[in-house]
Amino acid sequence: MILALETSCDETCAAVAEPDGTVRSSIVASQAAEHALFGGVVPEIASRRHLELIGPTVAAALAEAGCTAADVSRVAVSAGPGLIGALLVGVSFAKGFAYANGVPLVAVDHLQGHVASLRLAAAPPVGAHLVLLASGGHTLLIDVEADGSLTTIARSMDDAAGEAFDKGARLLGLGYPGGPALAALADDGDPRARPFTRPLAGRADLAFSFSGLKTALAMAVAAEAAPPADLAAAYQEAIVDHLLERARLGLSATGRTTLGLVGGVAANARLRQRLAELPVEVVAAPLAWCGDNAAMIAAAAVGLPALPPDQLLALDAHARSALG
Ligand code: KG4
Ligand code: ZN
Repeated sequence: MILALETSCDETCAAVAEPDGTVRSSIVASQAAEHALFGGVVPEIASRRHLELIGPTVAAALAEAGCTAADVSRVAVSAGPGLIGALLVGVSFAKGFAYANGVPLVAVDHLQGHVASLRLAAAPPVGAHLVLLASGGHTLLIDVEADGSLTTIARSMDDAAGEAFDKGARLLGLGYPGGPALAALADDGDPRARPFTRPLAGRADLAFSFSGLKTALAMAVAAEAAPPADLAAAYQEAIVDHLLERARLGLSATGRTTLGLVGGVAANARLRQRLAELPVEVVAAPLAWCGDNAAMIAAAAVGLPALPPDQLLALDAHARSALG
């Protein structure tokens, strides 16, 4: 069995998967309630909570899978990118577990984990494809070659799409995490009531940008330009349109005919609905595996080499990734 850990932000996650990545259990202990008091993730609180939660979360994942530590033949851990103090809890636990049990350790890039969440779909993409990764920390177009190698072809110039949802929710007086709350309010609104100018309109380069939208929303909220539900709907529509338009450009630049959708924002119903407009096959990560989880880290670890045993204890967490 693979034991996988993920502690890059504010969710303490552990999963047990079979050697081919088939999920046996996945526990996500969310700290959202603690951070909601502050309107966003407080890194120091995240690290301390991970420390408290990691042991019980691993125990729960093993128990739910009907396993004990003796059944674990490989440990996988998300080593970055993310909050360094938060990552270090998972990395240290994983090193200790692997060392104590004499099993190999695989370091996984968190973004590669999100991409691998597509392997948990009912019909995963076959062959080369393009992936739209939209999360709280990143908005990327990642080209996946048939051999699985990944190249990032587009990044955000400023905020990430999830960050835009979270900041928009805060401006509208909604709680944290803001994405689901803003999406729920948008359900009752008319996106055409007060349309926002689309970011980077008319530009053919592949970059994303969301900070201008956030400023436009702040001004509209201050001016009471429309009821909050209409503003939420219009703001969501502008984010979705921008993601869609850049995905379209990325598909024509690469010639890929399959698009994968992953990351926390991939749970957004409007985005999933609008992506169906694209003239390609769209594979969205299953809802359970959009937000941070350890099952995707186990899936990414399948086929990745383990650290040489003499380097196991030298593994360090890293805040940034070559993919981001
Ligand atoms: O992938 P994720 O769990 O963590 C990171 O790696 O960042 O993504 C979290 C982000 C948050 O910004 C959250 O507001 C957003 O995903 N999110 C959503 C929805 N559910 C989560 N955004 C829009 N609509 C949703 N339904
Ligand atoms: Zn993530």
